[in-house]
Amino acid sequence: MSGRTILAVETSCDDTSAAVLRGERELLGHVIATQDMHGGFGGVVPEVASRAQLAVIGRIVAQAVDQAAIRMDELDALAVTAGPGLIGSLLVGLNWVKAAAYALGRPFIGIHHMEAHLFASALEDERAQPPFVALLVSGGHTLLLHAESWGRYHMLGGTRDDAAGEAFDKVARLLDLGYPGGPAIERLAKQGKPARHPLPVPMVRPGQREGSEDYFDMSFSGLKTAVLMRVRELEKAGSLDEEVPHLAAAFQQAAVEQLTEKTLRAVRATGCQRVVLGGGVARNAALADSIRSRLGPDALVFVPSSRLATDNAAMVARAAAFRLGRGEQDGYDLNARADLPMPGVL
Ligand code: KG4
Ligand code: ZN
Repeated sequence: MSGRTILAVETSCDDTSAAVLRGERELLGHVIATQDMHGGFGGVVPEVASRAQLAVIGRIVAQAVDQAAIRMDELDALAVTAGPGLIGSLLVGLNWVKAAAYALGRPFIGIHHMEAHLFASALEDERAQPPFVALLVSGGHTLLLHAESWGRYHMLGGTRDDAAGEAFDKVARLLDLGYPGGPAIERLAKQGKPARHPLPVPMVRPGQREGSEDYFDMSFSGLKTAVLMRVRELEKAGSLDEEVPHLAAAFQQAAVEQLTEKTLRAVRATGCQRVVLGGGVARNAALADSIRSRLGPDALVFVPSSRLATDNAAMVARAAAFRLGRGEQDGYDLNARADLPMPGVL
């Protein structure tokens, strides 16, 4: 497949990633470096993250370009995540790309991080094209939307408090499982019996219908508090240690049930049988299994591979291929924005 060759950079949070993409599918180089110094803090520390981005950005881009076995002057365009994310981290990638675009005399474009997540599955399966329902669940975001076509999005719902991944991380901290919490909870939940600690499924109640304001919305903070209460009771009773896998399983089941029910509602409301998952929580096999089994055999559920589910530059490059293909590009006045609004929201 031929087409434009794009170098993309993603530095919105604690991962530093660079990718070289030719056309829409040919990933020539892709490197992701994940910072591992945040574990001791139980979460990402913004100042630490941005300094670490600065320390490695040059090397990561060089590795991706090396892998692609091309020269910098063979690039047709550059792309970078311009937001949302941690401002200090975003600025590292944005300024690197601006400087490189200037030095090479090539166009560049800023990409919305969540729009990039929508494109991740399309890199691996060409059927992952709109129209589709997308559930984007990461440490910073929880979004349910209907993509009518690339660049035209109907927002259906989001979280009212914590993001889905943030809830996994907070519950993992309560259970003393370290950071990031999602993989640890998923692992432990396999040995747990969720029925030992029945937890309420948030934002799912009888009588809700389309038009009810909480029909598509999600919430995780009440669920986290319910886990906290159980932890305190079990601590008092001296039986917390042996109950940790069961509590992890109960939390995961309630969180997955909420995400599954909301996705199902979006599929019913839009009549769209294609579902695209994205974000770090999409790595959770219980979530994908639950959505697949509840939607049944007529639906197509696309789950990106682990590497493309979490933050990565390949998805940024793919989103850029779409936007550059429409003739869009940015000027040197482009700024990073921690709260960048999603483009194309109808
Ligand atoms: O997309 P991502 O890498 O970064 C953000 O943009 O936030 O997502 C990271 C989040 C973390 O909260 C992490 O706990 C969660 O994804 N996560 C998982 C799993 N793997 C990562 N959550 C549940 N189950 C998993 N297997
Ligand atoms: Zn992300």
